[in-house]
Amino acid sequence: MDPKPNIAIDGPAGAGKSTVAKMVAKELGYLYIDTGAMYRAVTLKALREGLDLNEPVSVGEMAAAVSVELIAGDDHNLKVLLDGEDVTEQIRSPHISRNVSLTASIPAVRKHLVKLQKEMAKQGGVVMEGRDIGTVVLPDARIKIYLTASTEERARRRREELFAKGYHVDQEQMEAEILERDRIDTSREADPLTPAPDAEIIDCSSFTAEKVVKMIKDRVLTER
Ligand code: DC
Repeated sequence: MDPKPNIAIDGPAGAGKSTVAKMVAKELGYLYIDTGAMYRAVTLKALREGLDLNEPVSVGEMAAAVSVELIAGDDHNLKVLLDGEDVTEQIRSPHISRNVSLTASIPAVRKHLVKLQKEMAKQGGVVMEGRDIGTVVLPDARIKIYLTASTEERARRRREELFAKGYHVDQEQMEAEILERDRIDTSREADPLTPAPDAEIIDCSSFTAEKVVKMIKDRVLTER
C-alpha cells in the first residue's frame, strides 16, 4: 500500500481548514495544497482584466490560459504565483473574498483547476484543502475529512485573520458574508460543497486546531 496517502480536507469558509491542513502537512512531512488560493488567483486576474464574473464564457477562457502555481514557502506557507507574479497577499483581500464564489461556480474554471489539482496529487503525500477534494478532485483519497464549525465561530476566526492583515470587518457583516458564501458554494450546480459519503465529519467549534490535527494524524497512522 502507498506509504503516503493523500488527505482531503473539505468544509465551509472559516472552519479552520488552512490552519489544520498546514499543521498536518508539516507534522507528517506532506505537501500542503490550498485549492481555494487557485480560485482566488483566477478571480484576481478576472477583476484586473475587467471581466464580468457573471459571464462564464470569457472567465472560463481566461482561466484555461492562466498560469497558477503554488510554491512551498517558509514554514509550510504557500506562495501563490499568478502568471509568475507573487499575489499571495492580494488574493486574501475582502474584495477577492466577496467575489471568488462567483468564479468558483463557473464549470470551465473548475474543470481547468481540478485538472491541475489532480496532477499535483499524483505522487501521493499531499494534504489538499478545498470544497470538492473528497468528492471530485481526489475521490480515491484514503483519508477524507469534512471540517465544519458554527457560523458564529467561523466568522470570529475569519475576522481575527483579517484583523491581523489590517482589515476590520464587524461580526454581523462577517456572519452575513459567510452565510452568503455557504449558500453559493453549496447550491452551485458544478461540484457543490458537500461532504463525501465516506468523509469523517468533524465539528471543530469547540476543538483546538491541535486536537483536530491529532485526530487526523491518528487516522493516517491507523491507515498504514
Ligand atoms: O477556502 P477559500 O475561502 O480560500 O476559498 C475561496 C473560494 O473558492 C470559496 O468561495 C470556495 C471556492 N472553492 C471551491 O469552490 N473549490 C475548492 N476546491 C476550493 C475553494
